[in-house]
Amino acid sequence: MTLKFDTLFINANLATMNPNIDAPYGAIGKGALGVKDGRIAWIGKMDDLPKHKCKKKHIRDCEEDWITPGLVDCHTHLVFSGNRAKEFEMRLQGASYEEIARSGGGIVSTVNATREAPLRLLHLESTVRLGDMFDAGVTTVEIKSGYGLDLETEIKMLQIAKELGEKYDMRIQTTFLGAHALPPEYKDRADDYIDLVCNEMIPKIAELGLADAVDGFCENIAFSPAQIRRVFESAKKYGLPVKLHAEQLSNQGGAKLAAEFGALSADHLEYLDEDGVKAMAAAGTVAVLLPGAFYYLKETQKPPVELFRKHGVPMALATDCNPGSAPIVSPHLILNMACTLFSFTPEEALDGMTRVGAMALGLGSKVGTLELGKSADMAIWSINHPAELSYWVGKNYTPVKTFKGVVQNDEEITYDY
Ligand code: NIG
Ligand code: FE
Repeated sequence: MTLKFDTLFINANLATMNPNIDAPYGAIGKGALGVKDGRIAWIGKMDDLPKHKCKKKHIRDCEEDWITPGLVDCHTHLVFSGNRAKEFEMRLQGASYEEIARSGGGIVSTVNATREAPLRLLHLESTVRLGDMFDAGVTTVEIKSGYGLDLETEIKMLQIAKELGEKYDMRIQTTFLGAHALPPEYKDRADDYIDLVCNEMIPKIAELGLADAVDGFCENIAFSPAQIRRVFESAKKYGLPVKLHAEQLSNQGGAKLAAEFGALSADHLEYLDEDGVKAMAAAGTVAVLLPGAFYYLKETQKPPVELFRKHGVPMALATDCNPGSAPIVSPHLILNMACTLFSFTPEEALDGMTRVGAMALGLGSKVGTLELGKSADMAIWSINHPAELSYWVGKNYTPVKTFKGVVQNDEEITYDY
């Protein structure tokens, strides 16, 4: 049989991140990768490349460059207006993140800016951030709402997120984060606001198909486990998977609650205990670690990385790009921080921003590794070793090329060769 490829990459070092390949980074040296209809249709050693057809102009000699899966940034709040540089200054003068939030600043100040921003401005500010990520080899990004906190602005944020994906031809997963903070008009009426989230916002957003998941912030300065439970129940009713900002500043039992609802992920987790880790392991909930927020808030309590390893909880990494706790658009800085601050190996770090990041979005069977049948989302890097991707500090590696497979037929297919 002669295989037909739309594009063929040859003479590449492939960091497949496929855990079934028994080599660091699932690496295949002197490899080739064929793409057909947006999917990886063949992958292996150059020497084993079967008889094939591919137009000469679509054969790319990688000259021993490395190909990795396109990076997956599985937790961002990338659509927002303005910045919080003033609060940064206040924190350095001694105010804490919680104090600023309690005095009406924090998330709510970005809510005000985002509500007021003209559509074009909000679009432009967010486009620039996403463009930086695209330039750094990211092909999949999750974008949360949560700076609107009223139906109209939440919808606006999610729509912009989707439009941005089309502009850059990136894969965007949207998450509804209505339960992010209490909007000023609901002061002292948190339960009423949760009613609004559950009874009006989630149903409407589900009807419009604007969100792939529902998230919340379970914290003293945000919502209680009982309130988040109601949000999760509503999400479940409308068939939406859940995730949670949990144990970021204190241990509220949020991760355990998320696990109870079969959450895709629980995120932050600095204050998580072993019980919570075990609950996540049993539920298959991914731990999304956000070293950028840990760094930026000058947190000293580290997430229980050793316990995640011990109990087999997969660890993803993300930028958490947002104006308050992580004004960061660089995936490479996050890879480095995970190694230096959380003692990840460079291989674990890359795994966290590819394979496990995809799992945290429920996209594990579609993207995140270089494997037969998966979407051909990848980045080609002019590097000598994949550890280089997490080695530099403050340098955004730009891939030689980023490639995103556009799969028309989303069904699983079988390859009989
Ligand atoms: O992931 N923790 C809650 N949400 C964001 C911060 C949002 C903000 O400060 O604007 C986070 O850290
Ligand atoms: Fe976040």
